[in-house]
Amino acid sequence: MSSNRAPIVTERLVRRFGKIEAVSGVDLQIEAGDVFGFLGPNGAGKSTTVRMLTTLLRPTAGRAFVAGHDVVAEADAVRRSIGVALQDAAIDPLMTGRELVKLQATLHGISRAAGVRRGEELLETVGLTAAADRRVATYSGGMRRRLDLALALIHEPQVLFLDEPTTGLDPSSRVTIWDEVRKLNTEFGTTVFLTTQYMEEADQLARRISIIDAGKIVAEGTPMELKERVGDPTLTITLQHPDDAIDVERILMSFGEPASGSDGVVAVRLAGGSSRMPAVVRALDDADVEVHALELHMPTLDDVFLLATGKRLEGAEVPSSAEEVVT
Ligand SMILES: Nc1ncnc2c1ncn2[C@@H]1O[C@H](COP(=O)(O)OP(=O)(O)O)[C@@H](O)[C@H]1O
Ligand SMILES: [Mg+2]
Repeated sequence: MSSNRAPIVTERLVRRFGKIEAVSGVDLQIEAGDVFGFLGPNGAGKSTTVRMLTTLLRPTAGRAFVAGHDVVAEADAVRRSIGVALQDAAIDPLMTGRELVKLQATLHGISRAAGVRRGEELLETVGLTAAADRRVATYSGGMRRRLDLALALIHEPQVLFLDEPTTGLDPSSRVTIWDEVRKLNTEFGTTVFLTTQYMEEADQLARRISIIDAGKIVAEGTPMELKERVGDPTLTITLQHPDDAIDVERILMSFGEPASGSDGVVAVRLAGGSSRMPAVVRALDDADVEVHALELHMPTLDDVFLLATGKRLEGAEVPSSAEEVVT
């Protein structure tokens, strides 16, 4: 796993605007085929990082490589390898979806026939075939974002950058975009670099996450690792026979602190997190306990952000298990 093979690498990347340091020494390494989530509040430095990685902005200091190319010295090669859907993408609203896809193919020097074929395939993939001949001005926000995705993918990029792809969308359009991104990632193997201010989006979509605040990375890992770092998850066991509760409580004592359960439900703060689940299941099985349901409640990414920065993510919902959160 040499660092120059990873499709996105940054080394102490910095960008200043006058006195403001928007990005302050960011190190990233994103593996091929990954969906990477860059999570942070408004003004954290997400777009500035994306603009440097997509060659739209020069770094003040540090280096970055995309698809093996230096974003400054080999900007053209970087541009050919990437697809970009920016937060403030300008699209001519008087053109139709199909016209824009064709135009995009032409801009990338794709032959007419190949451009049409690829364009139709992408319109289908993002569910816009039926609306392809409508002017973009008539599209909903969700349709616009799906068109952005199709446009960004016309030249089959190895790496796709999505800057806040669902900001401002209603929940159901948001879920549709998530499905599209997953599909692109699995169907084409495209590496996805996605920024978001929604913890749920990072949680649902990203295999690995870096959390950025005020230009600095404050936490990184898989969503599971990040949440486990906050504190032990709560394991809740619903018993088939409520009479087993006392035995089960005794068994669980060796796995962590008891948490409040109710009739026929036993709960424990599972020390060591999800990795201890198989051992718990074995112990219950050895004792012939019949389990009706077994649930592990993790801390949320908002709890991760709180622990790292002392603040809540803007717009983050208060988790329902707030009283269990370690503060
Ligand atoms: N062109 C610019 N000129 C001056 N300041 C900028 C510019 N672009 C971004 N900034 C500042 O840099 C910081 C990070 O912005 P940005 O990268 O857009 O954050 P995010 O995308 O995470 O919301 C903010 O304080 C923002 O005001
Ligand atoms: Mg932004």
